[in-house]
Amino acid sequence: MLQLGFLFSNCGHRLRRCFFSSLTDPSFGNPTEISDDLSLYANKQQTAISLKTLLDTGKGKHLHLFDKMYKSSDAKSDDQKVQIQVANFLHRELPVRLAHRAIKLQSNSVMTKSKYVNQVCNWYKRSFEELRNCPIPTSLENESKFYRLIEGIYDRHSGTLINMAKGAHEIRSELGQDIDGFSDYDEIQDHLNDFYMSRIGIRLLIGQYLALKGVPMESTYIGMVNSKTSPYEIAKQAIHDASYICSRTHGDAPDVTIHGRTDLTFPYVPSHISYILVELVKNSMRATVESHGVDLMPNIKIIIADGEKNEDVVIKVSDEGGGIPRSNMNRIWSYLFTTADPSVLNAILNNHDDVRDFDMQIPLAGLGYGLPIARNYARYFGGDLTIMSMEAYGTDSYIYLSRLNDRVLK
Ligand SMILES: Nc1ncnc2c1ncn2[C@@H]1O[C@H](COP(=O)(O)OP(=O)(O)OP(=O)(O)O)[C@@H](O)[C@H]1O
Ligand SMILES: [Mg+2]
Repeated sequence: MLQLGFLFSNCGHRLRRCFFSSLTDPSFGNPTEISDDLSLYANKQQTAISLKTLLDTGKGKHLHLFDKMYKSSDAKSDDQKVQIQVANFLHRELPVRLAHRAIKLQSNSVMTKSKYVNQVCNWYKRSFEELRNCPIPTSLENESKFYRLIEGIYDRHSGTLINMAKGAHEIRSELGQDIDGFSDYDEIQDHLNDFYMSRIGIRLLIGQYLALKGVPMESTYIGMVNSKTSPYEIAKQAIHDASYICSRTHGDAPDVTIHGRTDLTFPYVPSHISYILVELVKNSMRATVESHGVDLMPNIKIIIADGEKNEDVVIKVSDEGGGIPRSNMNRIWSYLFTTADPSVLNAILNNHDDVRDFDMQIPLAGLGYGLPIARNYARYFGGDLTIMSMEAYGTDSYIYLSRLNDRVLK
């Protein structure tokens, strides 16, 4: 659990000296280069922060600490004070998290064979450097600068998933399609799970800070968390998006019906549910079209379940798309596995260099990471994603969403 003093203890630190080269240094592109500063930060512990602390801080519940910790601040309103508190925490915490990522990515000898993975690694290093060069945001002016820097960093990393998928493709091409016979397979899988989990945490911390600005405190949103998240509304949007992507490939898309607790709302991060549902509905649509053709497509069903005392909110996506052979059931969680035509990924590699994660330009299938990443999103807050298949009939996917409590974030 996060100690509040730790969260807000950035105040009073002197501006840190920059130990490394400027961003214009031509050697910046060298993925093997590690500054002393980066190594130092990679050896620091990440701060464990609970979701409750994050939310309470966003609501201004820790403002009593403000005047003591930020004596020199010119912040007047509560909103401004909250921004400065959160900005100071990020200014201290993000370099540690980014350094961990950069060093871990670089330490994997198989992954670093890919130029795309090295590019992602360099993004982490660059963002690390920028943060270390940025003044501590204790004044309104510095907080504005910091805010713009964080927006830029959020943007820079917005193609990470696509880039990592390209990297996986490069690695897969080297291995041939036989991922079962690949001795480093488990290690890569663990490495990527760890990478994506940590990325979700970093994006949440940054997104939380960016979303605080401009949102009135009485809104149902606190940063990225909506205290009245509606799975029904999210499912409707996911169906709309997946239908668009499916129709682009096949000219039509199966209908999807929503059942169960369509009235339910509960506190959650809507974008996480949205990501999971879009991936599952895309998969179900593809399977339905491929096994039935576009003229006789059975409906896909989404069922939302919840009882007052339930531990989780559970959502099921059910299709009649022919199911998954049992021998493939383990492989579907691999970042290196897809049954889609390789030409799809080749097209992305060749033509869509600027495609971003969660872009509507993504293909219906082909990147091979939809399920493992969706499961990481579900697991991030302690939930899960499981798949049950009846070969020759269809697939049921169950999303278990933990009710948010005082959970410590990774
Ligand atoms: N509902 C489903 N019915 C049948 N097969 C499925 C279903 N969901 C997943 N699969 C199988 O699991 C594989 C992996 O799915 P995953 O979503 O991870 O990757 P993908 O769909 O191939 O590519 P993308 O990352 O672009 O979504 C799919 O290629 C497909 O063979
Ligand atoms: Mg998919």
